[in-house]
Amino acid sequence: AGGGDEMILTPRPWSTSLGQPVAARPYGVPSRYEANLQRRQSPGLTRVPASSVAFAPLQGLFGIITPNGLHFERHHQGWVDIDPSQHRFMINGLVAQPKVYTMDDLMRLPSVSRIHFIECGANTGPEWGNAAVPTVQYTHGMLSCCEFTGVPLSVLLEDCGADLKRGKYVLAEGADGSSMTRTISMEAALDDVIVAWGMNGEMLRPENGYPLRLVVPGVQGVSWVKWLRRIEVGDQPWNAKDETIHYVDLVPGGQHRQYTSIQECKSVITTPSGGQVLLDQGFCNISGLAWSGRGKVTQVDVSTDGGRNWRTARLEGPVLTKCLTRFNMDWVWDGSPVILQSRAQDETGYVQPRSGQLREVRGTRSIYHNNAIQSWRVAESGEVSNVHVE
Ligand code: MTE
Repeated sequence: AGGGDEMILTPRPWSTSLGQPVAARPYGVPSRYEANLQRRQSPGLTRVPASSVAFAPLQGLFGIITPNGLHFERHHQGWVDIDPSQHRFMINGLVAQPKVYTMDDLMRLPSVSRIHFIECGANTGPEWGNAAVPTVQYTHGMLSCCEFTGVPLSVLLEDCGADLKRGKYVLAEGADGSSMTRTISMEAALDDVIVAWGMNGEMLRPENGYPLRLVVPGVQGVSWVKWLRRIEVGDQPWNAKDETIHYVDLVPGGQHRQYTSIQECKSVITTPSGGQVLLDQGFCNISGLAWSGRGKVTQVDVSTDGGRNWRTARLEGPVLTKCLTRFNMDWVWDGSPVILQSRAQDETGYVQPRSGQLREVRGTRSIYHNNAIQSWRVAESGEVSNVHVE
């Protein structure tokens, strides 16, 4: 008895046998011990899974990059795996010369690689009324962040001789069955929009738009059209179905807001978060993510008493524009019940609102663009749960 740790004292099988040969798995996969870390869908959220969401497991990710196999998915009509040799990308409308590009045509052009977050406008939507879902995977998991590689849309618009006097907007169209079409301002199109094929150093995954998708930094996910097949230059917004029936914000007085595309500054604590258990009192690293569609995150404050007192968290580098920023804060849990919150600020000076502040302006009937402060309650037992704090 008391003879020490078996794991140290007895030689382990992996130390006393030959390992697997190289390239036993030509395309690597995670350890079988990580099988619980998965994208998850919420059963019953939509009538068929082909038009649903698979949420990214934010609680199990480190740093700011989302691994490709865990990037959230949102399809309106299922995902497709398009043969790149059969894919065509067209630019038409108010251009001197409409053009059709093959993937080869595109991939020989000057490319850029940029790290940006993508967040669905409906992320955190169920939380408008009350604490609705148990974990950060479901409250905030329509969020991912990758290094995207592709050709700036500005290069292609120049190649086709876009009429920048009359052309104030572009329409992006996908090749899947959902007829996904979105209006994007010419200002954004010429700024940092990318026609991308690369994601974290490899080709896009089919679920995320292989072989081509639009990257629209800072703007809600729906505008990041997947399986991108066409850009049209026009002089007014198109009012497409996904800009009129969906993706409008109901506001008080029977009105709605349209084309509210920027994802405002937001943050969330990913550990400890709903569904997790603090095993013991003592030191605990509070860690989370902050982001803003308007630029860089400049500060994140963390409260352990439901918003009465705040301490400034450490921002871990790199802090990039329109990109997730990881924050950490040292904390000692004394075993009493507490409410954890984070509050982010961006370079425009905008501060993430409390739920009550957001509802005062936006009412209670909205779905999209909920960037309110998230609250997690740690009970005496160490169990962490989602709670609503005004
Ligand atoms: N593009 C097409 N062609 N079809 C779609 O269904 N879904 C949009 C957008 N682009 C969609 C699309 C929505 S609503 C979001 S939030 C993002 O893609 C999700 O991107 P992801 O599946 O790569 O996470």
